[in-house]
Amino acid sequence: MNAEEMKKAVAKEALKFIEDEMVVGLGTGSTTAYFIRYLGKLIMEGELEEVYGIPTSHQARLLAIESGVPVVSLDEVDAIDIAVDGADEVDPHLNLIKGRGGALTMEKVIEYRAGTFLVLVDESKLVESLGQRVPVPIEVIPPAWRAIAEELEVFNAEAELRMAEKKDGPVITDNGNFILDARFHRIDDPLDLEIELNTIPGVVENGIFADIADIVLVGTKEGVKRLER
Ligand code: A5P
Repeated sequence: MNAEEMKKAVAKEALKFIEDEMVVGLGTGSTTAYFIRYLGKLIMEGELEEVYGIPTSHQARLLAIESGVPVVSLDEVDAIDIAVDGADEVDPHLNLIKGRGGALTMEKVIEYRAGTFLVLVDESKLVESLGQRVPVPIEVIPPAWRAIAEELEVFNAEAELRMAEKKDGPVITDNGNFILDARFHRIDDPLDLEIELNTIPGVVENGIFADIADIVLVGTKEGVKRLER
């Protein structure tokens, strides 16, 4: 199996967690995109009834509408049964780094509140400790970006303002903010760092998701493996 086939395999496996009448948090990124498309197909074919999706981003919302998944917003529901999303890194305790796609804030808002948070990755995302492969994305309000980037030096981190590729200037998130990508030399305690980063004034949210993933489905060459906390 190549990486794309692994993504499809975990997305198919995730469908087994979805039942009639569920409210489902819809993640962002290329892996969850397969899940949203497959979910829409089941709903359109009448295999699943009364299932509603809460998107974590414009990407997820547009894709859900296109795929036939009825969309609701967080303030319209009493509870979220399950949220399904990808990740950029997963450590052995199932702590995550997310936010390559810039949607970390709504992802965390929804996934934190879901009865079950199901994560879909291929095996390249598994790391011994967070920060090995990717920086930690931090969403910040625009006027504060430079001050925050300098403050991150106290944490022994080098932060870079994320620049857009098909627009001049910085990436603007779905919430109208900037993203700093921060490389930490070591992340010994992800939960502690997650909480501490959010105490910096001007930080909206950061991409460390410690202690919230319940199940991780990992696409491997041998098939889908399930990791649980
Ligand atoms: C979006 O902001 C991210 O958190 C994605 O969920 C994460 O980058 C995983 O994306 P892929 O499934 O495309 O690797």
